[in-house]
Amino acid sequence: MSGTLTTLQNDALATLEGVRDEAGLADWHRDVLGRKGTLSAAMRELGSLDEDARRERGRELNALKQQLEAAFEARQDAIKAAALNERLRAESIDVTLPGREPFVGNLHPLTAMIREVSDVFAHLGFQTVEGPEVELAEYSFDMLNIPKDHPARDVWDTIFIESDNVEITLRPHTSPMQIRTMMQQKPPVRVVVPGRTYRYEAQDATHEWHFHQVEGLAVDRGITMADLKGTLAEFARQMFGAERKVRFRCDFFPFVEPGVDMSIDCPFCGGRGCRTCKNSGWIELLGAGMVHPNVLSNVGYDPKVYSGWAFGMGVERLVMLKYNVQDIRLFAANDLRFLGQFARARL
Ligand code: FA5
Repeated sequence: MSGTLTTLQNDALATLEGVRDEAGLADWHRDVLGRKGTLSAAMRELGSLDEDARRERGRELNALKQQLEAAFEARQDAIKAAALNERLRAESIDVTLPGREPFVGNLHPLTAMIREVSDVFAHLGFQTVEGPEVELAEYSFDMLNIPKDHPARDVWDTIFIESDNVEITLRPHTSPMQIRTMMQQKPPVRVVVPGRTYRYEAQDATHEWHFHQVEGLAVDRGITMADLKGTLAEFARQMFGAERKVRFRCDFFPFVEPGVDMSIDCPFCGGRGCRTCKNSGWIELLGAGMVHPNVLSNVGYDPKVYSGWAFGMGVERLVMLKYNVQDIRLFAANDLRFLGQFARARL
């Protein structure tokens, strides 16, 4: 090969070696193999040579062209492969990085507490049932021994639903489920009934117009006040600690006779007196009593054969007590700063 062609070859290959990307490749192709490139210029000079020299130079030029084209393709492949590698490296996953913690919600404290109460009573032989929040006044009151015009009806500041012929309430307590349960089954009965209740009541730190109760009912032959006291004391100890003391005092509810309320010694001060128990040393948990014979008769149970006890307690107040929550309105305020605090509490 002549010296000029060798120079052309060396220059072209050296420049190609330095090309790093697609744009550089296009430039090189244009400058060397293109119509106005160095190789085309060398080919154009063929015409000025005599025949033998032209044949010889033509062969050399063709061989050089093939070599440069092959070199171009090889460089093009290498650049593409390098770009692909680079992209893969950028996209690759580092399996040694620690995982990102997913956001996991938690049960609302009231839901969790209802489950915990149901769980305690399940171990004591009670089934959990639920009932309607929109309830006949007949079940909310009449069948519970609270006839129309009875002054006790005013105690439950009831929200009524407009209706033409039957009186309908947003249930002011879960006690109507005593009636529904007993009308549906024969004794023995052992149920707890968690659910939402409504009262036309002014809100403050300890009162809501909508709140939750858990009702309890046990009816069978030979059930006594001792069963009521034993079961509820066991519940209080499982919920608030084995060292809890319980206190029963007389109270009045038209659907029980006798009626009681149950308190526990304050878990925060051990009964010595503090802000939570208003210095009394006791905190009231629930109302209860022996099911009134009139109620048993109303559902077709013979009060001479069967007896039973019932209780009703506020779920919000249980959570407030267990976790020292100071304002009942927080439960419905939908503030995740409050609700999220129960994520790790075992309710
Ligand atoms: C009743 O509702 C009776 N049905 C309970 C009962 C059932 C007694 C069976 C006997 C036998 P009372 O009105 O006291 O009772 O309510 C029971 C509990 O509900 C209260 O101790 C309290 O914890 C809760 N509670 C009542 N009113 C409110 C309110 N406005 N806001 C939050 N909790 C309330």
